[in-house]
Amino acid sequence: MKRLTIFLIVIFYLIVYSFGEKKQIKTRSHTSQLIVSGKEWHDTSGKRINAHGGGILFYKGVYYWYGEYKADSTYLNSKVTQWECYRTEARGISCYSSYNLVDWKFEGVVLESESKNEKSELSCSNVLERPKVIYNEKTKKIVMWLHVDSHDYTKASAGVAICDSPVGQFKYLGSIRPNGQMSRDMTIFKDDNGKAYQICSSENNSALYINELSDDYLKPSGRFTRNFINQFREAPAVFKHKGKYYIISSACSGWDPNQAKYAISDSMLGTWTMKGNPCTGKDADKTFLGQSTYVLQINGYKDGYIAMFDKWNKKDLINSRYIWLPVIFKGDSIEIPWIKQWNIKMVLR
Ligand code: GAL
Repeated sequence: MKRLTIFLIVIFYLIVYSFGEKKQIKTRSHTSQLIVSGKEWHDTSGKRINAHGGGILFYKGVYYWYGEYKADSTYLNSKVTQWECYRTEARGISCYSSYNLVDWKFEGVVLESESKNEKSELSCSNVLERPKVIYNEKTKKIVMWLHVDSHDYTKASAGVAICDSPVGQFKYLGSIRPNGQMSRDMTIFKDDNGKAYQICSSENNSALYINELSDDYLKPSGRFTRNFINQFREAPAVFKHKGKYYIISSACSGWDPNQAKYAISDSMLGTWTMKGNPCTGKDADKTFLGQSTYVLQINGYKDGYIAMFDKWNKKDLINSRYIWLPVIFKGDSIEIPWIKQWNIKMVLR
């Protein structure tokens, strides 16, 4: 009898737990709160969210949004003459947490830049951009990759940092040029089978590299592909839906918006087919005046995807805004329609 009671209690908790994660987003997002693209987005303490070029980690029932923590003032780096190199000091990588993807609590700067040591790769005069964070089941480490560059973008490298907790402090391990090649705008994609990839603009932005990572996610495995050669694609955002892989990317025009394109493939290291602009509606030819950074699949929802873009304000970079829009699937094709304001419920399917 006692055994049966214990068995029933265990079954009860298993059922409650397995429905729990899905319910978490459902119940909490039944608030009337809307995602309003391009408008100031405040954290739960009322301060403007400062997490640019970011990405999201879902870990133990919580979403963590990591991004570039920009400093207040923007200046033009006059040493760079080929393009308008507007800069802010890099203040490190910020982290915000949320259960419902609308209310974000500031967890702090989880990888800090260094204001005293000019020679450090994390010096605030350097470039620390586009952080992406994944969890490694084998090592139980939270792993961050980010674009680490010199003030004039000539270092073109990728940095790695690790932590036991999603909210920091991350330990910086250093930067590399993956497979000996340049790495500027970048993202990380973790596949269902645990394999992870670093995807970056390389060869002076003329080709997009897909670098498979080692099992601990800390370095390239040595297997990589060169894609979209001479197409100058950057700002990659990678996701998977119904067994197909997708990359949304932008053209190269600095902080100024241009037309997005997406490509599709049957495998990460396979052949990618460029499909065209996924955006529709107002300013669709200029990515709604934004630039891609990440596509999030909402945990537990097979068609629930959110495309995240940055609406850069090049002369006041900290005041750049966020554009989050649902991804609509039509067979293998995708569409990202401009919707001025919407509720997360819309993509919970
Ligand atoms: C963009 C890139 C941004 C930032 C900017 C600097 O093309 O996507 O992440 O590096 O250039 O001008």
